[in-house]
Order: sequence, then structure tokens, then C-alpha cells
Amino acid sequence: MNEKQLPQIGFGTWLLTDFPTLEKAIETALHTGYRHIDTAQVYNNEYDIGEILAKQSISRDELFLTTKVAPQNYLNFTRQSVEESLTRLQTDYLDLVLLHAELSPELNLTAYQELINLQKEGKIKHIGVSNFSIAGIEHLVQKTGVKPYCNQIVCSPTTRPIELEDYCLDHDILLVGYSIIKPYFSPNPFYPESALSTEEKAKLDEMCAKYDINIGQLLNYWAVSHNYHIIPKSSNPARVEENFALDFSIDREDLETIDQMNRFTAKEYQEQVASWEDRITPEALETGLLYKKHFK
Ligand SMILES: NC(=O)c1ccc[n+]([C@@H]2O[C@H](COP(=O)([O-])OP(=O)(O)OC[C@H]3O[C@@H](n4cnc5c(N)ncnc54)[C@H](OP(=O)(O)O)[C@@H]3O)[C@@H](O)[C@H]2O)c1
Repeated sequence: MNEKQLPQIGFGTWLLTDFPTLEKAIETALHTGYRHIDTAQVYNNEYDIGEILAKQSISRDELFLTTKVAPQNYLNFTRQSVEESLTRLQTDYLDLVLLHAELSPELNLTAYQELINLQKEGKIKHIGVSNFSIAGIEHLVQKTGVKPYCNQIVCSPTTRPIELEDYCLDHDILLVGYSIIKPYFSPNPFYPESALSTEEKAKLDEMCAKYDINIGQLLNYWAVSHNYHIIPKSSNPARVEENFALDFSIDREDLETIDQMNRFTAKEYQEQVASWEDRITPEALETGLLYKKHFK
């Protein structure tokens, strides 16, 4: 049987930790047609997602489940933490497991090799990375010969890492964009310059009125037009449905107007990549981030 491939539109779950809200959002997402659920060990919701999915009539075969190894687990706990994620998500295999962020080349390689082992055992179908640079990807490929399935990266009108996008597309590494809508509402805390100006927001609002769509639909459509797979998050059932409804068309000039809002340089992306390593202390690496079965 062919492996399932990543659906173009998935459901993001970062910050969705209130059980009733998460349950309603996931039920709405599945009912709407979403088949990809994106979570992470650090999101504090794998256990709840497992409970919620177990109650649905949809079969495991139809679902594409992604989680991410917490950077604290790279040194000693990649295997154990993935096995705990499997338990919390109540599944025998994960469709996609990502290294959540780029650390040192040695740490990345240690964790990636363990993911390769888990893939050989059938516990993971695809392995990928998130928040990785070109150099970080090249090091893994050079050492293991295994190309990541995707790179999940920040993508918004103001924060598009274009050089990295080109590299991934040229090397058949899928692009998954995150926090596509967020800068419309508030600056991404990791990218303080990312907030849209009043003038830029007014331009986006005009486009929404022109096409009779909302801001999520506009920006999701724009990201898909740049070959991104998307994983919008919403706690609001109506917005969950709207984010899946991208069957409209936006004029090329309007997409180009959004493109012109980008102010992200390769240097800024690189600084952001480097900052992940500073956030993980040697003590955290020794201890890992393990939650056993319950993750609450
Ligand atoms: N790999 C990583 O390091 C990383 C980092 C960040 C995110 N992610 C993943 O990417 C997913 C998406 O990113 P994100 O959570 O930052 O946010 P996002 O999808 O950009 O959404 C940002 C906010 O916009 C609101 N929203 C959603 N749809 C909307 C719509 N149609 N109209 C108006 N407002 C809308 C939501 O608030 P309401 O809930 O109030 O609707 C949401 O909190 C995450 O949930 C997570 O799975 C990964």
C-alpha cells in the first residue's frame, strides 16, 4: 500500500490545551474534511488529542498525525519520547515526526538517527524537521543519506524565508508553513518585527472585502499559492471551517501586493535558528522533557 501523503490543509493545535475547546475544534475539523492534525510534545495536548480521536468514527488509516520531538529530548530521549507520544496519541505509528528545532549539528544528528531507526521499525512513516536552516538540513543528509520529508517553518506576509523555500522546493522537501495568520493580530514573539502595519492591514482588509473572504482564508490561500502545506489553528468552529474553504481565486496582483510585505532576511532567519540552541540548557538536555502517559 502507498504511504499516505501530507494533506495540503491540516489543523494546528498549538495553545489548544482547554479540553472542551480542543474537542470541539477537532470534531469540527474532522467533520469539515481535515485529515492532518499537527501537534508536538511541547504543546501539552497529545494526551487529550489521543482521547478525542479515540472517540471519533474516523479510522486511523484516514488520518495523518504529526508530532515533534522536543529539543530537550534530542540527546538521550528521542526514542523514549516518541514511544510516549505514541502512547498518549493512542496509536501504533505516527505519520510524521519532526525535530522541533535546529540545535547543534551533533545533537540534530543524534536525534535524527533515532528517528531513522524508529522509521525502520514502522513506528514512524515519514521523518522531517522544523525551524531548520539549509546548512542544518544539508548536514543531516550528508551524514545519513536520508532527506527530511518536510521542513515546517514560519511563513507570513512579513516573515517568508525565501532562500530556504527555494532550497526546499528544489530538493523535494515539502514546505509546511506555520503562524501564517498570527501577525495580522499580534507580532510573533520570536519575530518582533513581524507585526503588520496599519497600512498593510488596511490593504489586506480591502482584499478580504473584494473577495468576500476573511483574513485567515486570504493568507492561507496566499501561502498555498507559494507551495506551502498549511496547518491553521483556530479555537473557533466557524473559523476552523472557513480555513478549509479555499475554493476561490485571488488575482495575481493582489498576491504580489502581499508578497511585497515581506521584510525577512536570510540573516534574521539564521539568527532565529541559532537562538533555539541558546534556549536549551545542558541540564535540560540531561533531564529531557518526559511526561509519561499523562501530559497534564
Ligand atoms: N514548528 C513550530 O515551531 C511551530 C510554531 C508555531 C506554530 N506551529 C504550528 O502551526 C500551527 C498554526 O500556527 P499558529 O497557531 O501560530 O497560528 P495561525 O494559524 O497563524 O493562527 C493565529 C490565530 O489566528 C486566529 N485565526 C485562525 N483562523 C482565523 C480566521 N479564519 N480568521 C480570523 N482569525 C483566525 C486564531 O485565533 P482563534 O483561535 O481565536 O480563532 C489563531 O490563534 C500551530 O497551531 C502549530 O500546530 C508550529
